[in-house]
Amino acid sequence: MPLSDTTITVIGTGYVGLTTAAILANVGFKVYALDISEARLAAIKSGRSFFFEEGLDPLIEKAVKYGSLIPTNSYEESIPESKFIFSCVGTPDNPDGSSNLDFVYQAAMTSKTYLNDASIYIQKSTVPVGTGRKIETLLSDESQNIAYLSNPEFLREGTALKDLLSSDRVVIGGDNQDAKRILKELYQLVASKRNTIAELGGIPIDPVDTKYFETTLESAELIKVTSNAFLALKISFANSIAKLADRTDADIVDIMDAVGADRRIGRSFLDAGRGYGGGCFPKDVSGLIASASDYGVDLPIMTAATDVNESMPGYIANKIQHELGTLKGKKIAVLGLAFKAGTSDARKSPGVKLANIISHAAATVTVHDPQASEEAATDLRKEILLASSIDEAVKNCDAVCVATNWKDYAGLDFLQIKSIMSGNIWIDCMNMFSPIELQKAGLKYIGVGRH
Ligand code: UDX
Repeated sequence: MPLSDTTITVIGTGYVGLTTAAILANVGFKVYALDISEARLAAIKSGRSFFFEEGLDPLIEKAVKYGSLIPTNSYEESIPESKFIFSCVGTPDNPDGSSNLDFVYQAAMTSKTYLNDASIYIQKSTVPVGTGRKIETLLSDESQNIAYLSNPEFLREGTALKDLLSSDRVVIGGDNQDAKRILKELYQLVASKRNTIAELGGIPIDPVDTKYFETTLESAELIKVTSNAFLALKISFANSIAKLADRTDADIVDIMDAVGADRRIGRSFLDAGRGYGGGCFPKDVSGLIASASDYGVDLPIMTAATDVNESMPGYIANKIQHELGTLKGKKIAVLGLAFKAGTSDARKSPGVKLANIISHAAATVTVHDPQASEEAATDLRKEILLASSIDEAVKNCDAVCVATNWKDYAGLDFLQIKSIMSGNIWIDCMNMFSPIELQKAGLKYIGVGRH
C-alpha cells in the first residue's frame, strides 16, 4: 500500500496538533483530528481553527470538505485503522514548574487498547527526558510490541505552517529503525507537496534544505527543550545587557546588531524588550530545570534566565513611573496582549503582566490587541478597560506602551496619536519604533536599552 493511503490520528488539536493534522490531510492522508473538546471539534467541522494562525483555515476548510480531515472524540473510531498516531496533547506546567504529563499518559493509555501491531506511536508533545522510555514500556505487552518514537515539534505560533513546511530540521528519536525510516518517508512526502499546500494557505515559503537527525529517544527529547532553553537564554542575556545600556549612552539594538554579526553568535533572539511569554518558553525552561533536578543536576543558568525574564514587566513599569513621577491616577494604554505578533495566544503574555502591574499601582489602564483581547481578558485585572480600537485605547493617555510587535502598531500615524493623548510618553517595549520618528511627532521615546 502506498504511504499516502495510510490513515493517521493526531491526538490533540492545539497549535501543534491541528496545524500538523491540516497539513497531513492536504498531503492526501486520511487524518482523524482527535480531541476531547467539543468546542474545538465543532470549529474544525465548520472548516476553521479555534485560534488565529495565518493560512490555516483554508487548509482545514478544504480537507474537511474533501473528507480527509475528520474531527472526532473517539479513540475507538480512529486509532484501530491508523498507521501513525501523533500525540500532540498539552503539557501544562504544575505549580512547582515541573511538566504535567497527565494528558500525555492518558492519551497513550487510551490508545493502547486500540493500537494495531503495525502502529507507530509518535510523541510530538514536549516531554521531560526519560518520559518516552516509560510510555514505550507502557504501550507494549506480551501480545504486541508497539513502535514508539519521539519527534519533537519546533513550529512557532504565527508562522506555524511555514515552519512545518520548511523545517530546518526533523528530529526522530527511538530504537525501532524501520519505524524511523517510515516516519522520515512521511516527512519527505510532505516536503514534496509543500509548495501546493503553502499556496493553498496563501503563505510564502523559502527553499530549504531540511536536515534529518535520527537519535535515541532521550536525545530527541532533550534536543527540543535544549533548543527552547537556549533561545530563552539568548533573550534574557539581551535583556540583561539592555538594563546596562539603559544606564549609559549605549543602544541595545546597535550592540546586538554588531554582536550578532559574529556568525558564531548570530543575530536572532537577541531582541531585548519585555521578555518572552507564550505556551512554550516559560514552561519548557521551568520543565527543564525541574527534570534536571530529578536527575540530580542543577541548572543555575536557566534559573537566572527565568529570573531576568520575570523581572522585565516590572522593570518597564518602573521606567514609566520614573517618567511620570507616579503611576497613581495616571492614564496609561498597553497596546499588545498577544505574547507575540501573528497569534491570538495570550498565555503568559508580558503585555498582560505589564498591564496588571501598572493597574495594581492605581493607574487607569486601557488595553488593545487586534487578535488576543478575548483570550487575554480572563488574565487581566477587572479594573482594566478593553478598548476596541487603538484610538479608544490611547485617548487622553499620559503614556502609551507597545508590548507586542503587531504590524498595526508599527504603521501608526504618530502625529494623530499624539494629538489625542494628554501626555507624550511612548514606551517601546519591543524596541520596534524609530526613536527619531517618534521624537519628530513630539513623543518622548523610551525603549528597553534604547533612548
Ligand atoms: C517557541 C520556539 O521558537 C519554537 O521553536 C517552539 O516549537 C515553541 O516555542 P513560540 O512560543 O511560538 O515558539 O514563539 P517565539 O517566536 O519563539 O517567541 C517566544 C517569545 O520570545 C515571544 O514572547 C517573543 O516576543 C519573545 N522574543 C523572541 C523576544 O523577546 N526576543 C527575541 O529576540 C525573540
